[in-house]
Amino acid sequence: MDKPGHGKVDKEVWRTRGSFLHRSTGCGDGVHASIVITLLIGVWCAQALEVSVGKVSFVEVMNGSSVLLPCTYSSCIGIQNLYFNWKYNDNGTLNKLCEGVIPAEGLEPHVMIYHERLMFVGSSKESNISVLLWNVTFEDEGEYICFARNPKEKNRNHSAIFNLIVVNQLKEVDNTLTIIIVSVIGGLIGLIIIVMVIKAVVLHFLNKAQEKNKECLVSSSGNDNTENGLSGSKADNKASPKA
Ligand SMILES: *[C@@H]1O[C@H](CO)[C@@H](O)[C@H](O)[C@H]1NC(C)=O
Ligand SMILES: *[C@@H]1O[C@H](CO)[C@@H](O)[C@H](O)[C@H]1NC(C)=O
Ligand SMILES: *[C@@H]1O[C@H](CO)[C@@H](O)[C@H](O)[C@H]1NC(C)=O
Ligand SMILES: *[C@@H]1O[C@H](CO)[C@@H](O)[C@H](O)[C@H]1NC(C)=O
Ligand SMILES: *[C@@H]1O[C@H](CO)[C@@H](O)[C@H](O)[C@H]1NC(C)=O
Repeated sequence: MDKPGHGKVDKEVWRTRGSFLHRSTGCGDGVHASIVITLLIGVWCAQALEVSVGKVSFVEVMNGSSVLLPCTYSSCIGIQNLYFNWKYNDNGTLNKLCEGVIPAEGLEPHVMIYHERLMFVGSSKESNISVLLWNVTFEDEGEYICFARNPKEKNRNHSAIFNLIVVNQLKEVDNTLTIIIVSVIGGLIGLIIIVMVIKAVVLHFLNKAQEKNKECLVSSSGNDNTENGLSGSKADNKASPKA
């Protein structure tokens, strides 16, 4: 690590990637290998720590119910004394709801709660720092910010925002929209079916009419041929006495 040629690079690597490669960079040829590996890891995971509230960053709940405010973190360099908190954006003022420190991977944090209807339900085994809010009121609506900081990576701040929407009746708006969409689609399909049925019926009758027309035309000119075509021997029988 004290080789003049590599000093600068090594320092850079250590600063950004924490201390876990310290030991392996210690000896001779290992230096190059670990630098390469570290750079690869660096490229591969640009965000050392990531917090996420999941794919859907909002939820609609009914007043009086409980709601899970989800948040997870992931880190490819590992965590150490990961500090996290949840804040509520009360019209621009950020109120801290809870905070805690996860000493290391797999160790459960001691969480301080500052809200009477909030409970920590996460688990560091699942990198989960979700909280549960119960007896939701309309005043609880708004932005909830999940924040995490990993001292292992220069105390960089990470956060994710979850939106809580409180409604009187669950998915009232969504349901009407769904109903509208379903009825429109249903109506369209029904219309298409009706049009097709009408078309089929009309074509059927047109064909019949045409056949009849043909029959009429042919029969007026000479009925033997058509009656033969229509019903084999009977027509013959009929035809023979006539003839
Ligand atoms: C939700 O709010 C409505 C309107 O304010 C109220 O009538 C109802 O009792 C509330 N429901 C619960 C479970 O608190
Ligand atoms: C939010 O703050 C603005 C001014 O800062 C105020 O006009 C508004 O009424 C506030 N809204 C609520 C819901 O408190
Ligand atoms: C986090 O933990 C809560 C409570 O155990 C659970 O409901 C939720 O599904 C977990 N989230 C993830 C992403 O594992
Ligand atoms: C939540 O609501 C239930 C029923 O309305 C009530 O019995 C309970 O005490 C409430 N809990 C809190 C923490 O407000
Ligand atoms: C992270 O946020 C804290 C306040 O929560 C701030 O004091 C600190 O400067 C921030 N750090 C970085 C690297 O932005």
